Amino acid sequence: PDTSHPAEHAGNTVASLRKAATNCRACHLWEHATQTVFGEGPSHASIMLVGEQPGDREDATGHPFVGPAGSILSHALTAVGISREEVYVTNAVKHFKFELRGKRRMHKKPIDTEIVACHAWLQREIELITPRLIIALGATAARSLLGRATPVKVNRGKLLEYATGVSLLITVHPSFLLRMPEENKDEEYEHFVNDLNLAKPFLD
Ligand code: URA
Repeated sequence: PDTSHPAEHAGNTVASLRKAATNCRACHLWEHATQTVFGEGPSHASIMLVGEQPGDREDATGHPFVGPAGSILSHALTAVGISREEVYVTNAVKHFKFELRGKRRMHKKPIDTEIVACHAWLQREIELITPRLIIALGATAARSLLGRATPVKVNRGKLLEYATGVSLLITVHPSFLLRMPEENKDEEYEHFVNDLNLAKPFLD
């Protein structure tokens, strides 16, 4: 049997990767998701943002970060002078994982094997786009990128080395801000914006 990952023979452009990923069966998440949600943005963006996995809106539309978390993200990027159009935005896991609660599809955190199964796509995106900075939004992205559990709290807000010539910035996931109690929201949002500010010098 062919045990190779589909990303290994998906070609050498982001467009060919995206196409090949539409019928990825490397884990079971494709079974209940509507579609693969691949990364989007300039194919040679200097900054790449990595989220966790598509949410309900992303699953329905096929585009990353178009729901509530995406609005916060766009807003925060604008606040530091980065436009959404100049960065590449993707996810560690490319299918929506959820649990049905009545008619609502509730986001469910991907497990390690799902993150690992999807990693080859992210790896190829990094190789083709060659960003100078990767921003991990939350623990799942950090886990995927670094290959091990990496707590966000103690590692956020500083430039780390991902590979030679490629920096890594870890920060919170924007949906963390959505779940914050009202009295902490502004403060946490500002902390997020402060972290993102470190990305500014990496713009072309
Ligand atoms: N949350 C994510 O991590 N990614 C998306 O694309 C949307 C919400």
